[in-house]
Amino acid sequence: MPDLSQATPYADGKILKQITDGVGVITFNNPDKRNAMSLEMWEGFGEALTALRDDDSVRVVILRGAGGKAFVSGADISQFEKVRHNAAASEEYGKRSAAQRALLADYPKPTIACIQGFCLGGGMQVAMLTDMRIAAHDSQFGIPAAKLGIAYGFDGLRHLVSLVGPSWARLLMYTGMRIDSAEALRIGLVERVIPDDQLWGETMAIAETISHNAPLAIKAAKITIAEVLKDESARDMNAIKAIGTACMDSADFREGRQAFMEKRRPQFRGK
Ligand code: COA
Repeated sequence: MPDLSQATPYADGKILKQITDGVGVITFNNPDKRNAMSLEMWEGFGEALTALRDDDSVRVVILRGAGGKAFVSGADISQFEKVRHNAAASEEYGKRSAAQRALLADYPKPTIACIQGFCLGGGMQVAMLTDMRIAAHDSQFGIPAAKLGIAYGFDGLRHLVSLVGPSWARLLMYTGMRIDSAEALRIGLVERVIPDDQLWGETMAIAETISHNAPLAIKAAKITIAEVLKDESARDMNAIKAIGTACMDSADFREGRQAFMEKRRPQFRGK
């Protein structure tokens, strides 16, 4: 569990941000509502993401939920009557939360979702936008849109289909069922399942490994994998070439070679 005593609060403390040893951590902190996301939380989340993006000391970002019972249980349904009651209101609501999700979708640094407990609806959307999902044994995943009468939208379903394939996407969406971590692992929704009491340590270990590796090489992988997932006509091959050149001409590549030859740990600077 991270020490939240020094964390910076956003959205009245319902979003917390902290930095430890090159690892940025954002905590969804509304445990009484199983970390359901209000619009204010979406906006605070966007501010925290931006701050960590612009901080050069941060090499990787972990998202997690407070309270041990949920990552995020979806959008805060109690706000729907006021701000999401029909198509026009829903479009406006969607724009405000979509702007924050777009930040995560285009995030230039590696991101990890550390999931313990319920990961539902909009929580799944956030988790699927991160680069990888590490889950505790006792977690539950689902998109109950059909139980509420909500259309889940293109971006959310695009990510779901690309992770689990169209048939599992249909099964999850048509039934609104919840699946456990073992099933989520089997269908490719999460990459690793860890005993509950080891989840934070294991997630931090992955983050620290990433933060000690060469940032430009990781950026090259991130950009290239994102381009692989695009339709061929939309691919930006120049972006892949540019980051490839930056990487192979970098001081870090020189440092990596030297450190290997000198049998020491490399010190990468992202240049
Ligand atoms: N929006 C608003 N409030 C929520 C919420 C959500 N998405 N998810 C949970 N809460 C609130 C509950 O209303 C309850 O509030 P109360 O204490 O004032 O009654 C509190 O969080 C605890 O939830 P509870 O249902 O008692 O806990 P649980 O552990 O038995 O179940 C969930 C947790 C997440 C499975 C269940 O609350 C649930 O199904 N939530 C809705 C999930 C959903 O539909 N998400 C998609 C939204 S688009």
